[in-house]
Amino acid sequence: MKTRKVYTDFLIIGSGIAGLFYALKVAHKGKVLIVTKDKKDETNTRYAQGGIAAVWDMTHDSIEKHIQDTIVAGSGVNDENIVRMVVSEGPQRVKELIDLGAQFDKIDNEHYDLAREGGHTEKRILHHKDITGWEIERTLLEAVAKHPNIQILEHHFTIDIITQHHLGEIVTSQRTDIECYGAYVLNKKTNEILTILSKVTVIATGGIGQTYAVTTNPAIATGDGIAMFYRAKGLVKDMEFVQFHPTALYEGKSNTQSFLITEAIRGFGAILRNQKGEAFMEKYDERKELAPRDIVARAIDNELKISGDDFVYLDCRHLDRKEFINHFPNIYNKCMSIGIDPFVDMIPVAPAMHYLCGGIQVDKNGQSSIRRVYAIGECACTGLHGANRLASNSLLEALVFAHNAAVDSISKFEHHTIPENIPDWNAEGTTQPEEMILITQARKELQQTMSSYVGIVRSNVRLKRAWDRLELLYQENEALYEKTTINQAICELRNMICIGYLITKHAMRRKKSIGLHYVVG
Ligand code: FAD
Ligand code: SIN
Repeated sequence: MKTRKVYTDFLIIGSGIAGLFYALKVAHKGKVLIVTKDKKDETNTRYAQGGIAAVWDMTHDSIEKHIQDTIVAGSGVNDENIVRMVVSEGPQRVKELIDLGAQFDKIDNEHYDLAREGGHTEKRILHHKDITGWEIERTLLEAVAKHPNIQILEHHFTIDIITQHHLGEIVTSQRTDIECYGAYVLNKKTNEILTILSKVTVIATGGIGQTYAVTTNPAIATGDGIAMFYRAKGLVKDMEFVQFHPTALYEGKSNTQSFLITEAIRGFGAILRNQKGEAFMEKYDERKELAPRDIVARAIDNELKISGDDFVYLDCRHLDRKEFINHFPNIYNKCMSIGIDPFVDMIPVAPAMHYLCGGIQVDKNGQSSIRRVYAIGECACTGLHGANRLASNSLLEALVFAHNAAVDSISKFEHHTIPENIPDWNAEGTTQPEEMILITQARKELQQTMSSYVGIVRSNVRLKRAWDRLELLYQENEALYEKTTINQAICELRNMICIGYLITKHAMRRKKSIGLHYVVG
C-alpha cells in the first residue's frame, strides 16, 4: 500500500456541525484539514429535523427554565456547571450560525417560530421547516468552502490516532502523559494511507447508531472516533446511556437508516395510539406525548410487548393540514411517497436507536484525557445530558463545545511539536479479504445482539448474553483484522464491536435504573 506524510496545524475528523464550526473558528490561525469518510454532507447533522434549542424569547422563557428542563430530562445526573455554560452560551453561538447565513423559520420579520418538543416546558426550538440539520450543514459547508485555510478531504477514512504507542513506547490507560500527533487515514479511492501529522487533533465523528439493528442514524454512524480513542487508551464515560427515539417511521423492512418522524410533531399536537386505536401515553406520564424521550420510548416499548405488535401509530389526522405541510414538508412528502396520507391514515412508528449521551470524556473546553485531542459533538461526553438528552440540545452542545475547543486550542497549538520519527502505516503480511461475508454477517450479528439484549429495557441475563456474543465476535474479528489489508468495512466492524463492548460493560456496571438505562432484574 502506498503511504505519504501530510502536515497540518489542525486535523479535524468529521464534517458535521461540530467539526465544521470548529474549523471556521480556528482557520484564521493556521492550516486546517478536515477528513471525512463519505461525502462531506453525509453526517448525522444533515438529518436533524426538529431543530436547535436555545432561549430566545425572554418574555416567556428563561435560561433557568432551560437549565431545569435539561436536568429533569437527564435525571439529575448532569454536570450542572456544564448545563449552565451550554444553555447560557448557546444563544450567542446560534446567533453566529444565523450570521453565517442559517435561516430559521419566522412568524414575522422579527420573531422566530419557536417549536416545543418533549421535556421542554417552553417553546424554544429554532428550526428550518423539518430539515434544520440540512440547513445548518449547508450554511457551514458554504462558509468553509470560502475559507482559504480550510481543506476538506472527502472519502478519507480515519483508522487510528497516532500516539507514543506508534513510536514503540508502552502506552497504558494509567499514563497521564499520552499525547497525539495526528492520525492514519485511508484514502478510499486510491487506497493510499496518509500519515497526517498535526499539532491538534479534533475528533468530531458523531454517533454510533449503526451498532444497533434499527436506527435513525445514517451508515456513517459507526462510533469510529470513540473506538479509536479508546484503543489509544483514552477515557470514555456514560456509554450505557443510549437514547432511542420514540417515533421512527415503521416501514416493515430492514433499512440501514430509519426515517425519523420528528418529536416536534408531538409538540404540534399529534397523539400516540396503539393498534386498538387507544391513546396510551396518559397511563405512563402526566405530560403524555410531551414527556421526555426515555419515558415515551419505554411506554411504546411496553405497549408493543403487551400487544405483540411491531409498531404503534402517530395520529395527525386532527391537525391543521396547511400548517402541518408548511412546518413538516419533508415528513409529509415521505409519508405520501409510501402511500400514507397523514390526514387520512395514522403513521406507523416504532422506537429506534438515535443518540449516544456518553462518549469521550471531556472538560468544559472539549479537552480529552489525551493531550492535543479535543472531542466535540455527539462523540463527546460533556456532562450536559446526564442520563438522557433533552430534545434538540445536541446541536446546541456541538456549537458551544466547538467554540470553546477552538479558543482553547488556539491558545496552545503553537507550543506543540511533532516528533520526526513517526512511522508510516505498515501493511506487511496482510492480504485483501477473500470473503466479505465474514464481515457483513458479523456486522448483522452485532446489530442484532445489541438490539435484542442491550436495548430500551435491559436485564442481567440479557446483558450477560450480549457480553458472551460480543466476546466471540471480538475474537473472530481481531484474528481477521490482523491478516486483512486495511479497508473501511473491517475497521468499522472492529469499531462497532468496541462500542458494543463499552455500552454493555458500562450497562453491567450500573445496577440501578436511571434515565435511559432501564433494568428489570
Ligand atoms: P455528525 O454530524 O454525525 O458528523 C460526523 C462526521 O464524522 C461525518 O462527517 C462522518 O463522515 C465523519 N466520520 C465518522 N467516522 C469517521 C472516520 N473514521 N473517518 C473520517 N470521518 C469520519 N439533534 C438536535 O439537537 N436537534 C435535532 O433536531 C436532531 N434531529 C436529529 C434527527 C436525526 C435523524 C438524527 C440521526 C439525529 C438528530 N439529532 C438532533 C442529533 C444531532 O443531529 C447529532 O447529534 C449531531 O448532528 C452530531 O453532530 P456531529 O458533528 O457530532 O457529528
Ligand atoms: C427530533 O426532531 O425529534 C429529533 C430531535 C433531537 O434528536 O434532538
